[in-house]
Amino acid sequence: MPQSLNAPPLWRSLRLRLGAGAFVFLSTIFALVSVNTRRVLEEVALESSRLAAAQVAQTLNLALAPHTESSQTLARIQPYLQELVTPQGGGVLYLVLLDERGRELARTDAVPAVLPPVDHDLAGAWTRGLLHLEQDILLGGQQVGRLRYGLSSTLLRDASDRLKRQNLITYGLLALALVLVLALLLRRLGQRLNRLTDAGTRMAKGDYEQSVREEGHDELTLLARVFNRMAAAARSRIRELESSQAAVRELNEALEARVEQRTAELLTANHHLEQTLADLRRLQASLVQSEKLASLGSLVAAVAHELNTPIGNALTVATGYAHKARVFDEQARARLQRQTLEQFLTDSAEAAELLLRNLLKASELITSFKHVAIDQTSSKRRHHDLARTLQDILTTLAPALKHRPIQVETDLEPDVRMNGYPGPLGQVINNLYNNALLHAFDADQPGVMHISAHRIDEQRVRLTFTDDGHGMDEATLHRIFDPFFTTRLGRGGSGLGMHIVHNIVVGLLQGQIEVRSQPGLGTQVEIVLPIDVGTHASASSDLGDPS
Ligand SMILES: Nc1ncnc2c1ncn2[C@@H]1O[C@H](COP(=O)(O)OP(=O)(O)O)[C@@H](O)[C@H]1O
Ligand SMILES: [Mg+2]
Repeated sequence: MPQSLNAPPLWRSLRLRLGAGAFVFLSTIFALVSVNTRRVLEEVALESSRLAAAQVAQTLNLALAPHTESSQTLARIQPYLQELVTPQGGGVLYLVLLDERGRELARTDAVPAVLPPVDHDLAGAWTRGLLHLEQDILLGGQQVGRLRYGLSSTLLRDASDRLKRQNLITYGLLALALVLVLALLLRRLGQRLNRLTDAGTRMAKGDYEQSVREEGHDELTLLARVFNRMAAAARSRIRELESSQAAVRELNEALEARVEQRTAELLTANHHLEQTLADLRRLQASLVQSEKLASLGSLVAAVAHELNTPIGNALTVATGYAHKARVFDEQARARLQRQTLEQFLTDSAEAAELLLRNLLKASELITSFKHVAIDQTSSKRRHHDLARTLQDILTTLAPALKHRPIQVETDLEPDVRMNGYPGPLGQVINNLYNNALLHAFDADQPGVMHISAHRIDEQRVRLTFTDDGHGMDEATLHRIFDPFFTTRLGRGGSGLGMHIVHNIVVGLLQGQIEVRSQPGLGTQVEIVLPIDVGTHASASSDLGDPS
């Protein structure tokens, strides 16, 4: 809860408390002083009463002792007694003379009818204005009688009363002066305090242009000075704050502008990047396509080259045979000899056999090529015999080995009916085959390639493609499927072969592929494929299982 800034009620104000405190303090001191004065006065009065009583007693004793031979003579000093009394007051007021047995012998006037008792306690009695006292009359140390007398104390009492009155007046005057002085002081104090409070209140409301007059040299002056310093400090702080706020605002605006600019730049850059990425994707697709076409092209070239031999042979045979037929025709027209006929028949059979063998070989080549080429240019799914398909592929690839000392071993399980994509499978084998020829072996280095295909179970087959060539190091193996990664840049490598292999095996064929290799120990590529891509759900991993 916020505390109120209003002035406190009068009963809680510091001024009232200060005034009341001073008043109570001074009153107490005054009361103490006046009580003490009175006590001292009373003591003095009492003492002087005692002194007066003792003096009177001594005087009386001295005056009366010579007349005390007998009670009769004592009785005769009555008029003399009257002389001792001072009727104006202030001295002895009455006298009564008694004998040793207490019988009255003489008395003055103005003795009370009944003799009052003797005042033993003078402190209580002197305020009455009259003390009743007694004095033994001694003669030669012998008590001869007693004297009762009244002693006036009015002078003392009046003096005391006067002092009391004067005290009271002094007290009243002092109190009045005190009240006036206090009122003046407190009023001035109040004004100065009010000025401070007002300035403080205005400052609390947010007006910091405040200062208080620094009058005098007291604590309030110090307070005012401190207040002024504080206000000045607050003002300079506020100015600093305002300027730093402005700076922060400016900075913020600049920052926002920069962020906006950067965002715009980033958006543009992002747009460019997206375009570049799309371009790259298109380029990659077209490169993949051209890589496929290139492998097909080299296949065509190899097959055409291979066809050259049987067809050339057939042509030579046919040409020779045509010549022989013409010669035979001429000979037969002239005169046909039996020996000539037999020779011609033998030649014919030989030529036919040669033609047949060469044309058969060409036909075989063309059939394999037809299968592979058709498959490779389409991605149609169809039923096929795995061993047969692999054999066809290897047949079309065989020409590439013509001048190289490389042996191809196969271990293909027969009668594995696949429902899959023989064309893409051919591309896979093609790439692995070409990689072995390009990377595993030097041009005239002898080596062995081994291709095997076996069922794992009813659903899956495992294909392995092994070479005993150079192998590869860890770093190459690690990046082998990356597009455009090649260790033979500009020397027949495009870096797309294994990327395509991976895409086909994992994508279209829904299988898995793993490559194991070490430098100098050759390379093994292991592929696990579903037998029926149509019913295959997910090919659980069977890679690395050597069984
Ligand atoms: N059988 C292999 N023996 C040794 N290294 C190979 C073999 N197959 C692939 N490699 C390495 O993998 C790299 C990538 O192969 P690939 O993607 O087919 O690209 P490319 O053949 O165009 O270089 C090759 O550059 C080569 O270093
Ligand atoms: Mg390659």
